[in-house]
Amino acid sequence: MKEFICNIPKAELHVHIEGTLEPELMFAIAERNKIRLPYKSEEDVRKAYKFRDLQSFLEIYYKGTHVLLKERDFYEITWNYLKKASSQNIRHTEMFFDPQAHTSRGMQFEVIFMGILDAMKEGAEKLGISSKLIMCFQRCMSVESAMETLLLSLPYKEWIIGVGLDSSEIGYPPRKFVSVFERARKEGFLTVAHAGEEGPPDYIWQALNELKVVRIDHGIACVKDILLVNKMKTEKIPLTICPLSNVKLHIFDSLADHNLKQMLDMGLTVTINSDDPAYFGGYLNENFLAIQEFLHLDHNDIYQLIKNSFQATFLTRNEKAILLKELDGFMLKRSHPIPEKAFS
Ligand code: ADE
Ligand code: ZN
Repeated sequence: MKEFICNIPKAELHVHIEGTLEPELMFAIAERNKIRLPYKSEEDVRKAYKFRDLQSFLEIYYKGTHVLLKERDFYEITWNYLKKASSQNIRHTEMFFDPQAHTSRGMQFEVIFMGILDAMKEGAEKLGISSKLIMCFQRCMSVESAMETLLLSLPYKEWIIGVGLDSSEIGYPPRKFVSVFERARKEGFLTVAHAGEEGPPDYIWQALNELKVVRIDHGIACVKDILLVNKMKTEKIPLTICPLSNVKLHIFDSLADHNLKQMLDMGLTVTINSDDPAYFGGYLNENFLAIQEFLHLDHNDIYQLIKNSFQATFLTRNEKAILLKELDGFMLKRSHPIPEKAFS
């Protein structure tokens, strides 16, 4: 099973590029930028990565971003992630970035963006990995700041596939950002939102009905509302599930308690993702391996999760068809019959 999971071609749809900043790179960039870190060693950093909840994680996560000052820094984190992703047989990835975490420190939008874009282009050329970029607004910041950020991004919109909503959830209902998402959709951005990670199912309803998002990030709270489950099933709305993240942030006590298998069996379009791999103890393969072990997923479950993720990408029909064909080819070569319901 381990070899099967590591080698199967896959996609990632929920990874924050700032959340891929490994302690080693954090130290190297801090030294280059002459920034003093509140940690003595890389080991010290890892020891600090013990979180009570989403908020306690975000405080450390945003502090980590303070070392990022130059275009080269953004290039390096993105390039390192893409190398790692490619080594895990990820064919396509859709990455979030948090511009407000940097513009609020005085950085230029263009500097952040160009560093990321250069690495994405190089990833496609040298590694054959395709990637797309989703710009997140921080829901704990003002609507005005989100709108300003949207306007800053317009000159680069052909390279940014969509916008999302992240950061602290409880007390910050998606509804607050209706005007920003409306403008984003008019500008041609696709829309997604973190909802139902720590927050209630109502935040998922708001994201779907009021922000008109086409994918829900996390969304694990949806199972508390059968009407919502039915809507998401009927409309095949994908959910980007991040198992290791959910345990590190104490949403579930253990992976054995995770509701991924329940959602999969309900027929929801669930996918597996890493969220902030440098902080949560693993990249995409580690997430698959851990959840497979704890929930006893079989080959068909893994196949279905990956098929869901290919279908939920923001790629074109043709691009999706190429990935799906590679996936089926992989299954047949391994003599794993392709499950019939998966042909739908
Ligand atoms: N930003 C980075 N990781 C996040 C998460 N898991 N939830 C909300 N915002 C985030
Ligand atoms: Zn996230």
